[in-house]
Amino acid sequence: KARTVLLATEKAFAADAVSKIEAVTSAAGYKLVRLENYKSKDDLLKAVADADAMIIRSDKVDQAVLDKAAKLKIVVRAGAGYDNIDLKATEGKGVVSMNTPGQNANAVAELVFGMMITSARNNYDGTSGFELVNRSIAFYGFGAVARAVHKLAQGFGMKSFAYDPYIPAEKIAEMGATPVATVAGLFEHQYVSLHVPLTAETKASINKELLMKMPKGGTLINTARCEVVHEADMVEVFKARQDFCYLCDVAPDDKAAKEAMTAAVGDKFGKRLIFTAKKMGAQTLEANDNCGVAAANQIVAFFEKGETRFALKA
Ligand code: 3PG
Repeated sequence: KARTVLLATEKAFAADAVSKIEAVTSAAGYKLVRLENYKSKDDLLKAVADADAMIIRSDKVDQAVLDKAAKLKIVVRAGAGYDNIDLKATEGKGVVSMNTPGQNANAVAELVFGMMITSARNNYDGTSGFELVNRSIAFYGFGAVARAVHKLAQGFGMKSFAYDPYIPAEKIAEMGATPVATVAGLFEHQYVSLHVPLTAETKASINKELLMKMPKGGTLINTARCEVVHEADMVEVFKARQDFCYLCDVAPDDKAAKEAMTAAVGDKFGKRLIFTAKKMGAQTLEANDNCGVAAANQIVAFFEKGETRFALKA
């Protein structure tokens, strides 16, 4: 019987990307089942029963999903961050998990600049803004997304700084950014852009102490995960500093937290606090194509050739 690949995306890919995914799965003789824009976890629990493989985005794969997934061998997160997969549970069941690192990096990088320019130009309200040229941007984490932002920053004539506990300082320097020795050191720069995964170590780690260190016009950019920021501290920083800005593609799910931040900043014009309406850093045609097709190819290579290059470990 032909293998079944379930495309389970609460936030759907562009139709064009889905056609390309299907082209890959059909060429391998697999069947693609689509569960897009689904509204309830029950739909996912039902659909997963027949799946040999799964392509997901930020969709949660936990024990409940795995309990229903009798045939599942592999799940590929079409994207970078995999905090939505319970890796202990997948490993426990012998299911291989993968991501598609780098495939949506440029999309996120362009959004970072979109938000920076919107903020620097006062959301185009007619008052004088400022230019990005000669300003400093410091990256917490220097993986694929941060490097893509850095490349654009070079084009803008900005100065880049970076701290990444997993990348040697010499390598950061080779890529044209100035290495920074500590997380705190990043906050001496006007822009700090977060590119770390959500882990026990990074959770709520961006706190008041760090944010209060930032120079005048200090701006935190978060296209990583909302949970990395200490939300209650952020509210206090907004109250304490009239100059501080937060540009965020990953607003808290929690309505009260969002409202508290919005009330603290009192920013009716979207200059100091930008929340995208929906997490959309990776929501471009190109990123959907890149991530979706990479995921489909990884599934085919796994079944046909036993390839596990992008396999994740708990
Ligand atoms: C990622 O980790 O790749 C991004 O956060 C994209 O997430 P999304 O696929 O849910 O848009």
